[in-house]
Amino acid sequence: MKIEVFFTPAEAATVDLEGRVAVVIDTLRATSTIVEALANGARGVLPAPSLEEAIRVAQNIGRSEVLLCGERRSLRVDGFDLGNSPLEFTEDRVGGRSLVMTTTNGTPAIVAGSAARRVLIASFLNLSAAAEAVASDGGPVAVVCAGRERRFALEDAICAGALIRRVAAAAGLDEGGGDWNDAARLAAEYARGMEGSLETVLRGTAAGRQLIEAGLEADIAYCATLDRHRIVPELRDHQMTL
Ligand code: MLT
Repeated sequence: MKIEVFFTPAEAATVDLEGRVAVVIDTLRATSTIVEALANGARGVLPAPSLEEAIRVAQNIGRSEVLLCGERRSLRVDGFDLGNSPLEFTEDRVGGRSLVMTTTNGTPAIVAGSAARRVLIASFLNLSAAAEAVASDGGPVAVVCAGRERRFALEDAICAGALIRRVAAAAGLDEGGGDWNDAARLAAEYARGMEGSLETVLRGTAAGRQLIEAGLEADIAYCATLDRHRIVPELRDHQMTL
């Protein structure tokens, strides 16, 4: 099975995604929050690459018909209904609602991945379910890490490595091999042994430190929880649904 990991969306842009299953990861916090929102009954999440686009999409649909969500520098945007903390996306708040979301790195990465045959959303919260979906698809895989401000982000690389190790296990394949790119091999090797200390590792990353400074450290523990949900959001018709 061909598996390639791209540590940033810019790396993923160097290949043709058509024909592949893209799995987008933004551990802290966009893809964790999307998983949480859909697990709590949100009808769908429309990803927007910028604030302007999110506001335009919300106005086109009808501002009161949607929840406008997202962050800049980790904090809820003025005038938005919700920020980007998974803890805000409770059943009470998002059940039955359509969400328009814009985040610094996560939603642009999802939009960038949309050239792929399928776009799945992964995080530690739904890691095993996402890996099983990828293994049962069986097609070539591109794991697209959102990274942080166009650079490598350790938390996404670890999540990517943990994901593809589970894909190999679910597909009954050996890890690595000729069809994995170097980034996939590195990520899998590094993720091995990290799963017992995810919260500690995530707290030490640049994104983790920014969340702590913003008073959002509870989000780190939440996003470090393995397999809280058995769902896999998928992008279809510009919207992530189950
Ligand atoms: C992002 O998309 O850049 C992140 O989810 C930022 C954040 O933690 O809010």
